[in-house]
Amino acid sequence: RPRVFSGIQPTADSFHLGNYLGAVRHWVALQETHDAFYCVVDLHAITAGHDPALLRQRSRVAAAQLFAVGLDPERSTLFVQSQVPEHPQLAWVLGCITGFGEASRMTQFKDKSQKHGNERSSVGLFTYPILQAADILLYQANAVPVGEDQRQHLELSRDLAQRFNATFGPTFTVPAPHIVKDTAKITDLQDPTAKMSKSSSSPAGIIDLLDDPARSAKKIRSAVTDTGREIVFDTETKPGVSNLLTIHSALSGRGIDELVAAFAGRGYGDLKKELAEVVTDFVRPIQERTRTYLDDPAQLDKLLASGAEKARAVAATTLRSAYERVGFFAPV
Ligand code: TYM
Repeated sequence: RPRVFSGIQPTADSFHLGNYLGAVRHWVALQETHDAFYCVVDLHAITAGHDPALLRQRSRVAAAQLFAVGLDPERSTLFVQSQVPEHPQLAWVLGCITGFGEASRMTQFKDKSQKHGNERSSVGLFTYPILQAADILLYQANAVPVGEDQRQHLELSRDLAQRFNATFGPTFTVPAPHIVKDTAKITDLQDPTAKMSKSSSSPAGIIDLLDDPARSAKKIRSAVTDTGREIVFDTETKPGVSNLLTIHSALSGRGIDELVAAFAGRGYGDLKKELAEVVTDFVRPIQERTRTYLDDPAQLDKLLASGAEKARAVAATTLRSAYERVGFFAPV
């Protein structure tokens, strides 16, 4: 079976619909056909300041949500990044074959460091994409399901795999991005030209999976829509309405064309009302299952420990061969 790897940051109290529709939904689908490794990337979550107790709690909530949306511990290996020390070990080696200029061109780093200011941006934020490459390459992943915003980071992972292989001999599988176009960029409800984002959207622009459905319904009702009154799908001229249609279609399983036909002659208010119902029906059972996992933290931690053990067996094998290729002294 081909292998997939992907990761998600535990930097918020809940995943939002962008995370779910752009990435996590595909994680669940791919576990049927692939050997699947998924990771709560807590090492990445400390690059821009954090609270220790909150981080630990958010890592648990992240894992609980992933199980709740359908990751099956029998079929997927889900683990927390800090429990597999091979990740930062490989990252060091990859950092030594990454150009300073190359890393400086990462647009996420440029955006975030501009926001925080150069003096206050950490070196960890700068080397973030190198650790991400290590995550992926350790598992010899063939495919990496992510949203559009990760495309450049995946390009770097591919470049580093190819460079390492060319310099030291074949070691890593070159990973391909798995980006499903329709839902690769879910946009902010208040600013439908920007992506829905944990770090930069206002609360009103985000639908969180774990949020009170009544609050989400309110946010949908006050979503920014476009001029005109017709419900059509056109991301250029009607980004707001198109985003609502995209979310509806992905959650209800009905095609965009079918929805557009069903809403012919009706107004934006009708679409919003129905979407609020679709979202509510979708999140309720997920919230319940998430709670069930969180009610038994010992069991949850056990699942994650066993995930880390399985992950480590693979990661250690890859790291050993990379260390040998690089010329490090023999393992003890
Ligand atoms: P993170 O935690 O920001 O987001 C997790 C996943 O959600 C996707 N995503 C979106 N997709 C569509 N529309 C949106 N508005 C939206 N917002 C977020 C992201 O593309 C991502 O797939 N660097 C990664 C975490 C990471 C990783 C990895 C991913 C660390 N190591 C190895 C893949 C492989 C990140 O910050 O994702």
